[in-house]
Amino acid sequence: MKDAIRRNFDASAVTYREFEAETGQFETLATRLATVVDDALEDDPVRLLDAGAGTGASTHRLRTVGDGVVALDLSREMLLENPTTGRVQGDFDALPFATDGFDAVVFTASLFLTPDPERAVAEASRVLRSGGVVAAVAPLGWYAADGRDVFETLARDSRSPSDATDVEAALQDRFALETGTWESEISADHLRQFYSIPAVAARLYPTLPPDERVQKARTLLADVEGPLEQRWQWLLGRNE
Ligand SMILES: C[S@@+](CC[C@H](N)C(=O)[O-])C[C@H]1O[C@@H](n2cnc3c(N)ncnc32)[C@H](O)[C@@H]1O
Repeated sequence: MKDAIRRNFDASAVTYREFEAETGQFETLATRLATVVDDALEDDPVRLLDAGAGTGASTHRLRTVGDGVVALDLSREMLLENPTTGRVQGDFDALPFATDGFDAVVFTASLFLTPDPERAVAEASRVLRSGGVVAAVAPLGWYAADGRDVFETLARDSRSPSDATDVEAALQDRFALETGTWESEISADHLRQFYSIPAVAARLYPTLPPDERVQKARTLLADVEGPLEQRWQWLLGRNE
């Protein structure tokens, strides 16, 4: 499963960067989550872990919170598109860091991608200092103007292994949580562009080869009309 996730993101680095350059969707999300983290930390944090850093939207924003940002990602190709120093290829389910080393661990649109969010949350808790914070944001879906879930009425072959509910349950086991929702608007064309990223189309059709799954996602979304609302759940916990 992990190999498949890594391969999917390796194959997605360029299309992901292009989507982000055109829409700034993840930068908006990362800015909101970085603000939540900044507000939660009383002292100036020096050590932040960007867990699932990807091509760098979240890394860039976390650097406004503290200088010592480590950008960790499973995918070498995604990291190669991330212009920061301090990049580490690794799995956030098995962090290659010592206990108590970070003031904050931040999962910007990444924690729901692991089949085992409990394990990733246990690892985040282990590397956090006492009083440090963990933050995550996970997708709640895409909604048409009439409030309809875009994927509810469209036939799908599968659903992804974890979602916002699993992320909340995993975090709730270890942390007292603050949580809320965010919305952003996106056009139907940008939704189609998003699902043309192989790793994103893999959440709809995980067993198909990349070209086929992207083609199938395009067909699936061909008639969707915009503007659409994308909804996200953010969560914040403090390490006791
Ligand atoms: C949707 S992207 C978000 C990237 C970035 N945080 C941003 O704001 O643009 C999710 C990233 O999580 C990474 N990822 C998925 N599972 C991971 C794991 N178990 N450990 C580390 N990174 C992982 C993927 O490789 C991908 O780069």
